[in-house]
Amino acid sequence: MKVVRTVAELQDITRQAKAEGKTVGLVPTMGALHAGHKSLIDRARKENDAVVVSVFVNPTQFNNPDDLRTYPRTEEADCALLKKSGVDYAFIPSVSEVYPEKDERVFDLGPVAEVMEGARRPGHFNGVAQIVSRLFEWAQPTRAYFGEKDFQQIAVIRRMAQVSGFDDIDIVACPIVREADGLALSSRNVRLTPEMRAAAPNIHRILADSLEYARTHTVAETEKHVEEQINAVPGLQTEYYTISDTLTMQPLSQWPESGKAVGCVTVYAGDVRLIDNITY
Ligand code: PAF
Repeated sequence: MKVVRTVAELQDITRQAKAEGKTVGLVPTMGALHAGHKSLIDRARKENDAVVVSVFVNPTQFNNPDDLRTYPRTEEADCALLKKSGVDYAFIPSVSEVYPEKDERVFDLGPVAEVMEGARRPGHFNGVAQIVSRLFEWAQPTRAYFGEKDFQQIAVIRRMAQVSGFDDIDIVACPIVREADGLALSSRNVRLTPEMRAAAPNIHRILADSLEYARTHTVAETEKHVEEQINAVPGLQTEYYTISDTLTMQPLSQWPESGKAVGCVTVYAGDVRLIDNITY
């Protein structure tokens, strides 16, 4: 595996690969890699000739300076996992390499970015669009892989790709990977205290149980039920639970007759902000 630190080198590598008729799979990450990332990498490995994984804690998507400061950074362990997973190129640039100048671009992300995380974390999705658009431009991937834990993020990236002319990139959504007790894997889980770690699997349990509840209750009743159940667990506090259309991300007032609904939740476990979702 080659560690690539500059944009110019990444561009050379991927240009060459494309010129040779090779497919390129890109897995964008912020490092602190875990089995969730590994599942994206394994899929990219299976489906492409060359695999590029980016490891970059993107400052423009953090609307909270403390969150950026405390975000785990584990480059050595990340490189070991990438090497073991058969990755060809690890793109690990510095902030000044990615942003030699301030990125002032404002993306037209439309309604998908205005609700839920978009409403609570001003500028977050624009920052995600800034970094992912740069990675798409530099790596020119055939396919790019994202985890469904960040369900809304995938809808936003699809929109960014559409308005920015990246229509030829196949955006591949990969299922959430969970611990044996149901907790969705997240780089932030390492910040959970033992008490919060013990409480956190209740989030998925309550979401999964709500599938049955939803059969005989309205969308609003189901949202209220899930919030109440989670808030009843000592240490957990929901920020929101919203049931939306899986494509438009717009909140639903009724269960859809066709198509699917997704319930997205954000929960504070102590001071750690966790997200998860379930499809109805
Ligand atoms: O999901 C993430 O880890 C990040 O938002 C991403 C897509 C790597 C962009 O920084």
